[in-house]
Amino acid sequence: MDSIQFSIPIYALISLSTLFFLVAWLRRKPLPPGPMGWPIIGNMLMMDQLTHRGLARLAEKYGGILHLKMGFSHTIAVSSPEMAREILQVQDHIFANRPATIAITYLTYDRVDMAFADYGPFWRQMRKLSVMKLFSRKRAESWDSVRDEVDSMVKSTAVNSGSPVNLGELVFGLTHDIIYRAAFGSISHESKEEFISILQEYTKLFGAFNLADFIPWLGFIDPAGLNTRLPAARAALDRFIDKIIDDHLTKREKIGDQNADKDMVDEMLEFYSVEGKVNEAEILTRDNIKAIIMDVMFGGTETVASAIEWAMTELMHTPEALKRVQQELANVVGLERQVEEADLEKLTYFKCVIKETLRLHPPIPVALHKSSADTTVMGYHIPKGSRVMVNAYAINRDKNSWEDPNTFNPSRFLQNGAPDFRGSNYEFLPFGSGRRSCPGMQLGLYAMEMALVHLLHCFTWELPDGMKPSEIDMVDVFGLTAPKAIRLVAVPTPRLLCPLY
Ligand code: HEM
Repeated sequence: MDSIQFSIPIYALISLSTLFFLVAWLRRKPLPPGPMGWPIIGNMLMMDQLTHRGLARLAEKYGGILHLKMGFSHTIAVSSPEMAREILQVQDHIFANRPATIAITYLTYDRVDMAFADYGPFWRQMRKLSVMKLFSRKRAESWDSVRDEVDSMVKSTAVNSGSPVNLGELVFGLTHDIIYRAAFGSISHESKEEFISILQEYTKLFGAFNLADFIPWLGFIDPAGLNTRLPAARAALDRFIDKIIDDHLTKREKIGDQNADKDMVDEMLEFYSVEGKVNEAEILTRDNIKAIIMDVMFGGTETVASAIEWAMTELMHTPEALKRVQQELANVVGLERQVEEADLEKLTYFKCVIKETLRLHPPIPVALHKSSADTTVMGYHIPKGSRVMVNAYAINRDKNSWEDPNTFNPSRFLQNGAPDFRGSNYEFLPFGSGRRSCPGMQLGLYAMEMALVHLLHCFTWELPDGMKPSEIDMVDVFGLTAPKAIRLVAVPTPRLLCPLY
């Protein structure tokens, strides 16, 4: 009798809570629209459409926010300015995490960097350190590397004048040199080649498909050989950067803190502790230093290089714009000298060329975020842990925000009230917006502007072998960035009355 009396409240409690959860589940908002998926694998057969262009096409059918189920994980693609504002401003605090694959987690030493760390005290600490110590305008050495490397690019181009120059290779080499010098100081050519091959393997591993990211219990299926390639890649990076750190430590022991020409490793070693953990006292471990160096390498090389190559490509493809920007340079700077930093502010049309290039070809076409809690966006349920893809490529070409959105027309930015890329115009997001927006924007823009302005002012450019502007290949490839699929080749001839070397 006693046990029956005891059981009745328990049954009532269980029934009530079941009812409560059932009602909550039934009243839950719907997921955003999207294509139907299969059991277990969901929409995984559409994996090849998770590119800036593929997602833009899906958005035409399903709208500015859409849902895909990839194995067990929810993927949300955002392709309109209104939805981007919801994610990056209104609910920025919920969408400030980063999704990390197994490869990314392993290669970033368990996400002890800034770019892949989840939002929280650790990320804040890393971001503060990077912004104040590494990317700051006060760190003159990074800005010096830009000027010096642009100078040597101009010289090497002048030496080859009259013959075809592979502009893509030229600018990718330039940005590697800039960032490499800013990070490590001057280092031998062989070391640089070795480091570039490590970076290339990292890029491949970051992009490799891994079934275990979507269906964890199928991790034993490993067609890309990740189980052996990941440890090998990280070991190669360890060998490379450990030696650089040791050399820097030896140098510090010899000359103390008097080193006037500090690179990024020097800056970070001021916070280095062998046993340390990152905490309020701002102590960095070797793993932190290595992971942050990789952020800088990935954040700062391909992004800037692809932007410069696209700017030259669009200008060669639109000869009236090329003529206009070079005429502005002749009027403002004159043909008797090279451009100086102080001239940049006066080059109004040139600045519009930069903006229009970043609009049509945002170097990071899709920014990846992750939700840290269940939430509702524009009436749709977004489950906690969803991977959110903010498609800057589609947003920057939104037909409700831009007239003739696919045409390269720098003059659109001459109009009063034209959008700016600092993150408060959600129709123009080359650097993102909100907490996770780009901390390297100033340095990246400076490198892009200096390289482009010198290429345009110092040389006249012709397409090789009588090629017509309309014959230039305008296709891009999707990865972390979206560079030109086929490198731009053009023939330079000196344009100035002063010597270039
Ligand atoms: C034209 C040049 C550049 C463009 C267009 C660009 C664009 C971006 C974008 C779109 C993001 C992601 C924003 C988001 O998730 O919402 C980002 C993040 C980042 N960028 Fe840049 N970037 C450029 C140059 C640089 C440079 C030169 C560096 C470093 C030297 C850099 C370092 C980073 C880092 C570390 C992050 C991750 C920040 C975080 O997660 O907190 N970027 N960048």
